[in-house]
Amino acid sequence: MSLPGSTIAAPVTGSRPTSPRAHLFTAGTAEDYRRAVTQGIERVAARVTGVDRPGTGITPDELAPRVAGIDLDRPLGDTTAALDELHDVYLRDAVYFHHPRYLAHLNCPVVIPALLGEAVLSAVNSSLDTWDQSAGGTLIERRLVDWTAERIGFGPAAADGVFTSGGTQSNLQALLLAREEAYARIVGGGTDRPSRPEVLSRLRIITSTAGHFSVQKAAKLLGLGADAVLTVATDAGRRMRTDELAETLDRCRREGHTVMAVVATAGTTDFGTIDPLERIAEICTAVGVWLHVDAAYGCGLLVSPTRRHLLTGIERADSVTVDYHKSFFQPVSSSALIVRDRRVLRHATWHADYLNPARMAERRIPNQVDKSLQTTRRFDALKLWLTLRIMGADAVGALFDEVIDLAAAAWRLLADDPRFEVVTRSQLSTVVFRYLPPGVSRDVVDDANLYAREALAASGAALVAGTKVDGAHHLKLTLLNPETTLDDIAHVLDLIAEHAGWYARTRATAELSSPVG
Ligand SMILES: Cc1ncc(COP(=O)(O)O)c(C=O)c1O
Repeated sequence: MSLPGSTIAAPVTGSRPTSPRAHLFTAGTAEDYRRAVTQGIERVAARVTGVDRPGTGITPDELAPRVAGIDLDRPLGDTTAALDELHDVYLRDAVYFHHPRYLAHLNCPVVIPALLGEAVLSAVNSSLDTWDQSAGGTLIERRLVDWTAERIGFGPAAADGVFTSGGTQSNLQALLLAREEAYARIVGGGTDRPSRPEVLSRLRIITSTAGHFSVQKAAKLLGLGADAVLTVATDAGRRMRTDELAETLDRCRREGHTVMAVVATAGTTDFGTIDPLERIAEICTAVGVWLHVDAAYGCGLLVSPTRRHLLTGIERADSVTVDYHKSFFQPVSSSALIVRDRRVLRHATWHADYLNPARMAERRIPNQVDKSLQTTRRFDALKLWLTLRIMGADAVGALFDEVIDLAAAAWRLLADDPRFEVVTRSQLSTVVFRYLPPGVSRDVVDDANLYAREALAASGAALVAGTKVDGAHHLKLTLLNPETTLDDIAHVLDLIAEHAGWYARTRATAELSSPVG
């Protein structure tokens, strides 16, 4: 086979390529593309079939020398050899979210239609910034934004949005839009205009103590003061207290601060609880404050056949974060920011002569960069598109329902087990608990739970997360794999009790035998 513009033969897999051009994916190398990618897929499929633990418990100190020892200036020139090497530095010790005893963070196993999308989108490599780099990709993303807006309950004619890299970016963009709206309102058309720094120093954001830290990060990036984010307490169900929200709004008004946004969380990261959206929306409407709903986690309820009602009130938000890569079983990255009123997206617009001149917008050429914080941008929407076209929204929602049911069963299991104390029952799929044997000091309980988590991870038998509840160390299961069974969870709890119990007994013995005074 000869390559365009070259007389050099394309490489046969396994032999050293003779031309740099032979590595480009072009019409002439389609067969090499097919072979290389198939080899990679075979490796991953074999590894996923073979894993008997979610991780190997390898430490950075063990793995780092292997990665550091590779000479990046001496290519192997061969797909098979590179995949063998990759096995050593990555695939063998990777953390596998596919495994039923991966119970740690908000990572999901991914659906096959989305993986198909991933393969197509990276090979075609469309960039969704402008129509002239994407064509149909732009229209597909726009349809999915409209579809999501409709699921939220926004009027389709007015709503809009854009895909982003994740919940952090979606929240940042939402708060950027809210900041600019607040700024425009404050500065208005008056002649005695306060300076921009003065206005920014007066802006406040309110969220609950269980809100995601990306809100604080966004405030920092948006140039607000260090004290710009006010957190209000949660109730016994770990949901934002609306009486405190109202009081905080009132206090801000009295102190001359402008609340630029209230961020309600639909699916708190630790507790999987949903703030009272309807009541919060009423309060925000009454005082004319932007409501952002961070539904990064809870967005899966938009397609739940049985639990959509848990999001009632979301349709009254000004903006919503949805992370398809959390509860729609999509590969990272796949997220979107959806806004009720498309006009607010103008705050993310900048016209560049070389890319998206204003005349293009006048001619209604659909350039998504006009709404995005990014320029070059992946066609992540394709993954969701193929998911909806192959398996359908109800099937995605049914998978999410399964893990929510599992979390409820796990919560009951823990509530009935005297070895443990379990915290707030989740509306989604997390379970927060701790090992709590009687007669053990608070310090030992804290350390025993920390120890159990690390010992479990080191063995690779299971991965669970940790967090603090009211200052005390707890463990957390985030259930997003419908393949996980209650037996898996019971087994992991036994392992935790074994590790933590061993630690507590060893500490007690050491304290008894240590000299007093
Ligand atoms: C509620 C919530 N919002 C935002 C984020 C940030 O999302 P991402 O990790 O996709 O940036 C998370 C991540 O866990 C989250 O739980």
